[in-house]
Amino acid sequence: MEILHVSAECYPAAKVGGLADVVGALPKYQVQEGAIAKVVIPAYRNPFRESGKHSFELVHQGGLWLGHDWYHFNVWKESNNALGFDFYQVDIPGLLDTPNVYGYSNDTERFLAFQVAVLDWLSEWQHQPDVVHCHDHHTGLIPFLLKYGRKYTGLAHIPTVLTIHNAQYQGQFGWDKLYLIPSFDLWKSGMLDWNGAINPLASAIKCAWRINTVSPSYMEELYHAANGLEGLLNTERAKARGILNGIDDDVWDPKSDPMVPVNFGIKDVTKGKKANKENICEEYGFNSSLPLFVFIGRLVGDKGADYIPEAVSRALYEHPGAFNCLILGSGDAHIEWLMQQARLLNGEHFGVYIGYNEALSRRLYAGADFLLMPSRVEPCGLNQMYAMRYGTIPIVRTTGGLRDTVTDFGDEGGTGVRFFQPTAGDLNHAIGRALELYSTKTTFNKIRKTGMQQDHSWNKAARQYMDLYTSLS
Ligand code: ADP
Ligand code: GLC
Repeated sequence: MEILHVSAECYPAAKVGGLADVVGALPKYQVQEGAIAKVVIPAYRNPFRESGKHSFELVHQGGLWLGHDWYHFNVWKESNNALGFDFYQVDIPGLLDTPNVYGYSNDTERFLAFQVAVLDWLSEWQHQPDVVHCHDHHTGLIPFLLKYGRKYTGLAHIPTVLTIHNAQYQGQFGWDKLYLIPSFDLWKSGMLDWNGAINPLASAIKCAWRINTVSPSYMEELYHAANGLEGLLNTERAKARGILNGIDDDVWDPKSDPMVPVNFGIKDVTKGKKANKENICEEYGFNSSLPLFVFIGRLVGDKGADYIPEAVSRALYEHPGAFNCLILGSGDAHIEWLMQQARLLNGEHFGVYIGYNEALSRRLYAGADFLLMPSRVEPCGLNQMYAMRYGTIPIVRTTGGLRDTVTDFGDEGGTGVRFFQPTAGDLNHAIGRALELYSTKTTFNKIRKTGMQQDHSWNKAARQYMDLYTSLS
């Protein structure tokens, strides 16, 4: 079984969020299941490529039309990589050679060209893959083009799978850009359309042979609320599944993580966490004898980041000086401002780091007592699983993958604190429960250790994906 994963991100080459972690890990576990797994992403001009630490060999050269513009492209393969699967990057000078992954006014053109380049390259393969596995809307036109693209009739038999990591983002663009899409059977235009626009995610839901979300609960939720796609998803139920993500426990291991100042395992968790907490508290001027709450993630409404300042400020008012809170993330300017306001209000008990910092995130997972995840929408969420593995108790709103991975400490086998409404009041209440838990050391330690013992490895999910592929033949 040979699988080609096509994605916009892959850790460690390009990471914005959890998509990168998944695409950087799942293929490795598929290889362990006996498959051949390959990953292709764009060749951004980011530190990964510019560092000179990775060597690439040129495996394909081509050119493509994007409307009236002609672009050369190269496909590079990383030689001797340590990823555990074959890793390719498509370089399109003038389009994909950007420092960041997303956020450009021509993102539509950039990812459309990427998809065309991947398919052109695929047309040249001598042994074609058994499955093309697309991730999110950036690769959502591939199932359509493989089925109906005039250039790709020789590839139309290759089954496609779409994994929906987040249905909030669909990549829509106007029909005025139709001329950018390589020629196809025009009477199939309806397969591109949703609500009067070209919608890559909707198109992939229609055209992929199978679709899945990254947790079972999120699949169920999407049938009721999918940012406008719920009706479509209901009609495609027969080919849909929910497969819970795993975490790469080689890369995310507190015993060996090189970014964690003091490595530790379950046996020396109390000592190890204490040392790592002191390390952070020293840097942020916190008293390390107090519980430390952290948030790591995008500062956007979907993550519930907007109501953290009010919930935490209220908790610090009700329990003066009882804990510290540190926020790591960036996103909406308004939410960043709300965080800075909370810092001014709460003085030495509230810290903010605006930006993306992988090393700091690892130190926080290792040193914190509680991780806040008040998400409004969470297709899977990886942070809560990393947190548990690093002995940090997650406080989660019960939605999507958070519902599927965290049990409340009040229940049998509990690993975290759950709350239901995405409001400052409910989160504030959950923080209160966490403080109470922290003060009962034996229960706190038991919950922490139960979390560390959870098996969130990729093995199960890798097998579920293999079953999904097998169902295609
Ligand atoms: P999403 O992909 O929706 O942002 P996930 O929970 O699936 O959410 O994955 C988020 C990933 O990105 C995790 O690996 C998390 O540690 C990381 N991350 C998010 N924000 C930051 C940040 N500001 N600095 C470092 N790592 C971050
Ligand atoms: C998306 C989702 C997140 C999920 C990740 C990996 O970014 O927002 O919940 O964990 O994809 O599948």
